[in-house]
Amino acid sequence: MENDNNSAEMANGFGTLLQATINHLEDLRRDGTKYLTVDPSLLAALTQKGSAKSLIPTPTPPPGDRVGLSLPKKAEVPTSKIEVPRPIDPPLIATGGTALMGEARAAAFAEIRERALQCVKCPHLVSTRKKVVFGTGDIHSPLLFVGEAPGADEDLAGEPFVGRAGELLTRIIQAMGKSRETVYIANILKCRPDTAGQSFGNRKPTPEEIQNCLPFLQAQIELIRPRAMVALGGTAMEGLFGKLEDGITKLRGRWREFQGIPVMPTYHPSYLLRNQLVSVKREVWEDMLQVLERLGEPISEKQRNFFR
Ligand code: URA
Ligand code: URA
Repeated sequence: MENDNNSAEMANGFGTLLQATINHLEDLRRDGTKYLTVDPSLLAALTQKGSAKSLIPTPTPPPGDRVGLSLPKKAEVPTSKIEVPRPIDPPLIATGGTALMGEARAAAFAEIRERALQCVKCPHLVSTRKKVVFGTGDIHSPLLFVGEAPGADEDLAGEPFVGRAGELLTRIIQAMGKSRETVYIANILKCRPDTAGQSFGNRKPTPEEIQNCLPFLQAQIELIRPRAMVALGGTAMEGLFGKLEDGITKLRGRWREFQGIPVMPTYHPSYLLRNQLVSVKREVWEDMLQVLERLGEPISEKQRNFFR
């Protein structure tokens, strides 16, 4: 008896809460709110817990970019649909083909960066990362370098390419007559790939991690609208273009296009560190000369003859 009373009371309490929630949501909708951010795991939990089950008619969120949240209707089981976007839903920005300039670009960039810093799409990376490594440099630069993913040094610093490979990349950029401050540098992944049970070294991003993170790079590209990009290594190429037939050895040196922007594939600086052949360095440098030509920038005799 006592038990029955308790569960009746609990059911009643639950019903009251549920009704209050429904009322609140309907108020929001009346006020013009079309979308709510709801953690998908919360939705999933709601559909599984005993008492909630009978009250929420659609247990499984439909597939697709939007997760439908069905609410019981006022009277019995009527359903009002509210569309709930996933926390990060590509595209992150839609500039409608118009370039954002100056302050507007900086503001949009800051917002995307903030979302990256809060991103929890790859829980295993969230639990191991020290910092999210969004990108660095000039958001108005005509030139964007795309790397793979932060390593241990970058994870600590919160800045891309600051370790040994980064020092080499910085020297290459300087040899081009530029600096880290006058180009933009970003990675396919904004978090360091975790290396469970391993105290050093890096691993390649998984296709799933790449898919999760790509909207951030896409937004960066959309906002910066560089006149040329450099893809550093095979993983950067794979991130931009998906799986390709050829490896970076074959891809490098020939222009491709990503969403209308010319992309020059070249070797990753880590590869240059492992492979000290002058012929390989020369290849990278020739790729960079092509980039300077594409940008219509003057090339000095000294630059032309670096490896001659
Ligand atoms: N390697 C990369 O691809 N990116 C970094 O930021 C550092 C090393
Ligand atoms: N300068 C360098 O240090 N490395 C290159 O690959 C090209 C120019």
